[in-house]
Amino acid sequence: MLARLKTLTLLGLDAEEVSIEVDLHRSGMGRFSIVGLGDAAVQEARERVKSAIKNSNFRFPGMHISVNLAPADLKKYGPRFDVPIALGILHASGQIRLPKNIIDMVFLGELGFGGELRPIPGILPTASGAAERGFKDFFCPIENASEAALIDEISVRGAHTLREVCDHVLQIHKIPETPSPGLDASQLSPRNDYDFSHIRGNEHAKRALEIAAAGGHNLLMSGPPGSGKTMLAQAFSTILPRLTVPEALEITKIHSIAGLVDAKQPIALQRPFRSVHHTASGVAIVGGGNPPRPGEISLSHRGVLFLDELPEFDQKTLETLRQPLEDGVVTVSRSSGTCLFPAKIILIAAMNPCPCGFFGDSEKECTCPPHSILRYRSKLSGPFLDRVDLHIQVPRIPFEKLTSLSRGEDSLTVRARVQRARDIQEQRFEKQYLKTNAEMSSPLVKKYCVVDEQTQQLLRSAATQMNLSGRGYYRILKLARTIADLASEENISLNHVAEAIQYRERKE
Ligand SMILES: Nc1ncnc2c1ncn2[C@@H]1O[C@H](COP(=O)(O)OP(=O)(O)O)[C@@H](O)[C@H]1O
Ligand SMILES: [Mg+2]
Repeated sequence: MLARLKTLTLLGLDAEEVSIEVDLHRSGMGRFSIVGLGDAAVQEARERVKSAIKNSNFRFPGMHISVNLAPADLKKYGPRFDVPIALGILHASGQIRLPKNIIDMVFLGELGFGGELRPIPGILPTASGAAERGFKDFFCPIENASEAALIDEISVRGAHTLREVCDHVLQIHKIPETPSPGLDASQLSPRNDYDFSHIRGNEHAKRALEIAAAGGHNLLMSGPPGSGKTMLAQAFSTILPRLTVPEALEITKIHSIAGLVDAKQPIALQRPFRSVHHTASGVAIVGGGNPPRPGEISLSHRGVLFLDELPEFDQKTLETLRQPLEDGVVTVSRSSGTCLFPAKIILIAAMNPCPCGFFGDSEKECTCPPHSILRYRSKLSGPFLDRVDLHIQVPRIPFEKLTSLSRGEDSLTVRARVQRARDIQEQRFEKQYLKTNAEMSSPLVKKYCVVDEQTQQLLRSAATQMNLSGRGYYRILKLARTIADLASEENISLNHVAEAIQYRERKE
């Protein structure tokens, strides 16, 4: 008897339907083969499925078992196919009878030797894909059920064991539907780990961070050790605008593929802040591999990617970040197809001004020979730095002075201004599905960043003096747009552009 079941596999964030066909033959007794471009984990399903069937009080058929995962040209990864393969074998060997409405059901999960279901990564995008395709029931390991239930349009049934799934299919005992964890905007909260008010002085840096948060602009801080760069980056994540429910789902889908979702708290309630060490590999930062996995830049989607000690990062890795920083998406190409991981992030980076760290410091003298300073800075390429709209110096404030400075504004106050500027942008880009000024394409810059003749002149002379690239020119205008939005001004004025220019990197 031939068995046919449905499941889904992931290609990046996209779920693709997979048909599982199981057939038994008398010839070649005892053989068990799986075809359909499965990786090693798919091939090893044979051992898991065999033991799980035996240990669930079923008989493992002593015939030739062939399993086909269709479509044949789509690469399949991981242990998620164990459960549907086992059900197919049980049906094909006449031990259970799959009902007619099996075509409305999706099965997935890894099997342990004892027949228990083990959780798998990528549940949320899979459940979302199943709902889009009109499936009705979604059978998954119990630990994945609350995550899958975030998708309202499908009935999620979380099972502990293979036996439980069989009992449901045979209508002996129904697996209850997992209720949706219910998600409303009130659950989503801003980060509050480091308050802005703890930063004393450094008004220039705080202003730049506020602009970066308001318009989604990338920022690089340069300053000696102990000047508070790491602290500023952490405080930055607390002034970002409120997270929306669709954004929370986008973030959770990416985290789901990386296996970072907590079963008890399946939805991301805050914007990500990911601090990456410079020893991390290119794939870990940008994404890729087999199966394609999101890198840190995608795990920071809708939040912050913090790269401390920027010149210490592998240059090649920084260069591969250029394209996602521009497009907000990482493209991973494989022979089996191309997949995309969203990466709309704000990059916050920090560096020392020189190897010893004290170049330009008011008290401590720099001990670096000039050529080593040059070499240190040249690790960052022009095209990479071009993608950073705000370059700021963070001077060290002597300890005695630090204590005499009063506390600044708290995160709540700054965030309120950032939110107002974001609301203006949301209205502006309603039809373009953009959220921030930083995302504007050149035609949009032309449309929304109109300046008067005097301002135009300032821009022109800055472009010559600073040897600006075309990108640099447009980026100044986008930044000026954000500065005007923070001031609730409809028109970009000379002051806004002048402020934007002073944040631009100066090519020496
Ligand atoms: N402007 C400041 N306001 C308050 N604390 C500061 C400031 N600058 C430095 N500090 C203190 O110095 C510590 C070291 O700062 P850190 O962010 O690690 O510096 P960096 O990353 O630049 O080396 C911080 O934890 C903080 O306590
Ligand atoms: Mg630091």
